[in-house]
Amino acid sequence: MVNIAVLGYGTVGSGVVEVLNTNRELIDLRAGEEIRVKYVLDLRDFPGDPIQEKVVHDFDTILNDPEVSIVVEVMGGLKPAYDFTKAALLKGKSVCSSNKELVASHGVEFLEIAKEKQVNYLFEASCGGGIPIIRALNESLTPEDVIEVSGILNGTTNFILTEMRDKGADFEDVLKEAQDLGYAERNPEADVEGHDACRKVAILSSIAFGKTVKYQDIYTEGISHITLQDMEYAKELNMAIKLLANGYSLPEGGDVSYYAMVAPFLVRHDHPLYSVDGVFNAIFVRGNTLGDTMFYGSGAGSLPTASAVVGDVISAARNAGKTLPCFWKGEKLTLSSNDKAVRQFFIRVGEDRAEEAKNIFRAERLVRSERVTGEVGLITGMLSEKEFADKAESFGGVLQRIRINQ
Ligand code: HSE
Repeated sequence: MVNIAVLGYGTVGSGVVEVLNTNRELIDLRAGEEIRVKYVLDLRDFPGDPIQEKVVHDFDTILNDPEVSIVVEVMGGLKPAYDFTKAALLKGKSVCSSNKELVASHGVEFLEIAKEKQVNYLFEASCGGGIPIIRALNESLTPEDVIEVSGILNGTTNFILTEMRDKGADFEDVLKEAQDLGYAERNPEADVEGHDACRKVAILSSIAFGKTVKYQDIYTEGISHITLQDMEYAKELNMAIKLLANGYSLPEGGDVSYYAMVAPFLVRHDHPLYSVDGVFNAIFVRGNTLGDTMFYGSGAGSLPTASAVVGDVISAARNAGKTLPCFWKGEKLTLSSNDKAVRQFFIRVGEDRAEEAKNIFRAERLVRSERVTGEVGLITGMLSEKEFADKAESFGGVLQRIRINQ
């Protein structure tokens, strides 16, 4: 029998218990042993809930119980999750986590301790909820030189952008709807300002490129400035506005440069990410010999996220005494400045300045919408971020700019 402890009985923690109960027989079969929840750590009590008798309030009860070999950390946040995770690993217990904030800031430190102690630190659920992307990067995609890992990594913002487009509702109204439906947090800043997606792409890029990508180094822009006018132009262009989190490499002067960014992008209709709508997530991976592949599925929610956590628990149980490989190493990956990144931009300018803007931004296309008056949209020529920023500053009348996914 494998005894586990679940830290945090919130959305994901209760989902973990439910997944284990729903699929008990096949999970035990696949783990090779019976998996039993011995403790649930939470500040609260849950009278009437079958797990109530397992609830403990003191982490030391779990830490000092030699029968507990796997700790599920689904508390979120840095404190006290950092201390609990470190202590559990040092004590020789494997830890399975859905906590992207903690993985992005301390993942490599935990991987090193896990290796030293011959246990596992697994975090499939930290990126893309139920989508099996981390295991794919660490196992199936190992022959590949991964050149890009990009995607829609936040369900809340994808839901908001989809509803704005389909219902013509503005950002604030849809955000409220998302909160009422339980998709968005009461404090939605981490989602809508792109911080959540930033942490996820830092984790995925670190594994894909084999060194530590610091989330603090990633330029991050959210979606709170996206308007209904932007949606109208996107429709005219047959493109969709998506919050993309990108990590990619480019050969430059005999060397390879790495870039990362989180920002709203216009995605062309023939790109696989165009049709990823609602709360779904998708991760697009480009390998040098494989070409393109995409992982699509439920990026958030109690049971999908819990399913990924339980998958890690099964892996940890099956691999007791052995540390599974993860190709994320401690050395820092220096990202190139986005100033050098070259792409097209969509901009909106006043009708009276259309001709001037066309020349300055080497516009390739003008776009109008009958629902938006007094202004015009333009697709610029290929410009570096720096060139674009300089031109926009000297022009002085850019009403909006959205990058175009190349
Ligand atoms: N707030 C996150 C999202 C939850 O909306 O995608 C899953 O990490």
